[in-house]
Amino acid sequence: MRAVISRIPISDAAPDDMYVCLCNALTDTQIRDAIAGGAQRPKEVYAACNCNAQCGCCTGTMLSIIREQPAGADQASGGD
Ligand code: FES
Repeated sequence: MRAVISRIPISDAAPDDMYVCLCNALTDTQIRDAIAGGAQRPKEVYAACNCNAQCGCCTGTMLSIIREQPAGADQASGGD
């Protein structure tokens, strides 16, 4: 018996976005946007995305993304 999988749009993610947090359907782009907005810890990223940690499996990847951002990146990319 074959399972029928319906195509349900789960978010507005762009085709090249990577899901980092499956519990909250957060993509790397959303996480980078939260960091650019001042988030410096996973807890602050969740808050910026209006969600909370569920299983916590994504926090290591989230920390890696936070650490790869150059200091003051949000200031430098702000543009005038
Ligand atoms: S994958 Fe992010 S809280 Fe579970």
